[in-house]
Amino acid sequence: MSTSSPSQPHAASSLPPVASLLAEVDRGFGRSVERLADFLRIPSVSTDPAYDAETRRCAEWLVAELRGLGFTAEAAKTIGHPMVVAHHPGVGPDAAKRPRILYYGHYDVQPADPVELWTSPPFEPAVVDGPRGKRIVARGAVDDKGQVMGIVEALRAWHAVAGGPPCPVTLMIEGEEESGSKSLEPFMHEAKSRLAADVCVVSDTGMWDVTTPAITTRLRGLVYMEVTVHGPTRDLHSGMYGGAVPNPINVLAKILAELHDAERRVTIPGFYDGVGELPAATKSQWDSLGFDEGEFLGDIGLKSGFGERGHSTLERTWSRPTCDVNGIFGGYTGKGAKTVIAAHATAKVSFRLVSRQDPARIAAAFEAFVRARLPEGCRAEFESHGGNPAIEVSENSRYLGAAERGLRTVFGKAPLLIGTGGSIPAVGSIGRILGMDSLLVGFGLDDDCVHSPNEKFELACYQNAIRSHAAMLAEFAGLPR
Ligand code: BES
Ligand code: ZN
Repeated sequence: MSTSSPSQPHAASSLPPVASLLAEVDRGFGRSVERLADFLRIPSVSTDPAYDAETRRCAEWLVAELRGLGFTAEAAKTIGHPMVVAHHPGVGPDAAKRPRILYYGHYDVQPADPVELWTSPPFEPAVVDGPRGKRIVARGAVDDKGQVMGIVEALRAWHAVAGGPPCPVTLMIEGEEESGSKSLEPFMHEAKSRLAADVCVVSDTGMWDVTTPAITTRLRGLVYMEVTVHGPTRDLHSGMYGGAVPNPINVLAKILAELHDAERRVTIPGFYDGVGELPAATKSQWDSLGFDEGEFLGDIGLKSGFGERGHSTLERTWSRPTCDVNGIFGGYTGKGAKTVIAAHATAKVSFRLVSRQDPARIAAAFEAFVRARLPEGCRAEFESHGGNPAIEVSENSRYLGAAERGLRTVFGKAPLLIGTGGSIPAVGSIGRILGMDSLLVGFGLDDDCVHSPNEKFELACYQNAIRSHAAMLAEFAGLPR
């Protein structure tokens, strides 16, 4: 890993000075905020069919922006929401000799509810003051529209200063990341040659803190299952039948409670197969990061962490697998009381995976775990909402070295190499299908409220995202292909 000062790029003579790009970013930043607000105003909630037309309009908005920067761009048809694909061959005779960069991000967002907890309407972006300066509040502000615009606006600066990017650039911005990415792999197989590149840059993760950039080298994987326990053929009077029949909610709750032992380890047989020990060097690097657990937990109103015994909070989120119930429903959930034994009960259960844990085996083991605990008179139905394995990115690639130099130019300090507890399924697919490594450089903060009410992006982070993508592109262009 290189931590040297900005490199003397190969073919430097035809690259503009990075300072001129950064100045252009700063000059145009007010308009960059307005464009982000326009993007955020389109409610591209991919999981909810009620928003399908808006999701398409959002893809088309992005296509128009990219065409304005000299890209050939389209909202490509898929089996689900459109895929925004754009390409620029790069400017000048040297461009073809330089590395080809693929950018990945997503233009879809999570649902905004509970809407009543927002301080301003989720799709009416508001620029407000916060302790770190101004911030933009809206669904998708940081996940991932603000980060996608970090890339687009950096390309705009290159367009203004040099007429376009210095190397061949392709963008693949999907519209289903928040809802299972079902079109992504079929699309990648079909469009493989158009997506060919030397490295994929993904901006959908976080920084260490507002002044410290980070490159994420570990992502957890995910298995998401829905289980419904069925009992009696109809809802029953709990006085007439209570004590005489299995209650699906009681049954499901007991099974869910058995998923963890007293050490808060997951009890499913084979669950820990493939989970690697954290290398001592990684553990000591993480210990040296100075993670402020009090701040991390204090932000969400907690004083102490909770999870698998014997591991620190960072280890538990970055390098240990987990099981969480994400939703549970059945029976009477309206106001007041209704004495009823419900015919069904459902839970949404997800698992975050690490190392070489196999999503298909975990899903099958969960099903077997549930079925083995069903009493006579109950049956279970399962629905899978997808699965993807964990990712570890090499910390020694020359692209990572180039990204480090670009980030150092912008922040005046080297990025930290971190993990994240979240998942970006596309990263695994890009590796498997397109055969390239991803570089995860993101600009979110822990308190950005991703997937929560009042999601925000600090304008300082947005500006640094644009500056960083502009500077990193110069560093990539300086590498021989
Ligand atoms: N941007 C997130 C992933 C993320 C979250 C990275 C937190 C770093 C920190 C991404 O959009 C996301 O939410 N992914 C989902 C994947 C799922 C819907 C398949 C996740 O992690 O839950
Ligand atoms: Zn997300």
